[in-house]
Amino acid sequence: TAEAYEAAFDAAVAADERIEPRDWMPEAYRASLVRQMAQHAHSEIIGMQPEANWITRAPSLRRKAILMAKVQDEAGHGLYLYSAAETLGTSRTELLDKLHAGRQKYSSIFNYPTLTWADVGAIGWLVDGAAITNQVPLCRCSYGPYARAMVRICKEESFHQRQGYESLLALSRGTPAQHEMAQDAVNRWWWPSLMMFGPPDDESAHSAQSMTWKIKRHSNDELRQRFVDICVPQAETLGLTLPDPDLKWNEERGQHDFGAIDWDEFREVLKGNGPCNEQRISQRRRAHEEGAWVREAATAYAAKHSGKGAS
Ligand code: 3HC
Repeated sequence: TAEAYEAAFDAAVAADERIEPRDWMPEAYRASLVRQMAQHAHSEIIGMQPEANWITRAPSLRRKAILMAKVQDEAGHGLYLYSAAETLGTSRTELLDKLHAGRQKYSSIFNYPTLTWADVGAIGWLVDGAAITNQVPLCRCSYGPYARAMVRICKEESFHQRQGYESLLALSRGTPAQHEMAQDAVNRWWWPSLMMFGPPDDESAHSAQSMTWKIKRHSNDELRQRFVDICVPQAETLGLTLPDPDLKWNEERGQHDFGAIDWDEFREVLKGNGPCNEQRISQRRRAHEEGAWVREAATAYAAKHSGKGAS
């Protein structure tokens, strides 16, 4: 009976067991996972644009090779996440159509421009750092395919974060102009990175239910606070200042107090009014159209060689 299935699902989640694709699950659980996993995947592939913007202008072959590897990783993360979402009965085609039609989101952070080479380091250190803080708990998410995709993605994100940190360190300790370029990038990427964790808990539409289902393991504000506490000592080592005059250690809380986030800016970016929203989506649509021949060729090849043993 439906009640028995519901009870079995609740017991599995309560026991921290994994829900697998063939298990019965509430339709609302499925729908919320498709929503989150699709938007996570969209974030990965849109995130390739601001970073790729500097591949042809990287200051050395070494930096170019690292950046190319990182952008390729982001495409791969998108692939894992679309594949994991497809285990819930949707298709990559359908999800991409929704992205292109503006009916599904991607992370607000990628609607900001990468104005100088130092932005590549700031993205690695702050954006990938925030992504890791948000994604490590997702390795314990109740839905098996999502949790398993996160394990490998987190390993690769660590490389992304470290290369960004190292690049910023080189700039910060370089010439005064390089130090200023690194500081300017941190000034522009700090607050949008805090917005990656989502709206404040009391304005989060999904958190309560998502935490009941053990999809979300910590609240938006908890992870945001954790990220701030991680970044403060790192900024000190970098010799860079975080652009928040209210940022200070609170001995009583054992955490850093920090200033107010501009949630109007967050809402505007989510509405599509960020600096680069239009550019990102039109570039994405163009890439999809220009890539149609690759998809057709791969489909034709698969049809021709299907059932003829190893192709
Ligand atoms: N950008 C865009 N939309 C956001 C957002 C952000 N920074 N933060 C929240 N939202 C959206 C939510 O998607 C939701 O809208 P929806 O109903 O249309 O999906 C709405 O705002 C309300 O937010 P909630 O807190 O209620 O939503 P969630 O419970 O889903 O929490 C989240 C938001 C913490 C981002 C959660 O979805 C999550 O953990 N997602 C997986 C992680 C992820 O997507 N990370 C993207 C970072 S970029 C990245 O990973 C690339 C890396 O390689 C650099």
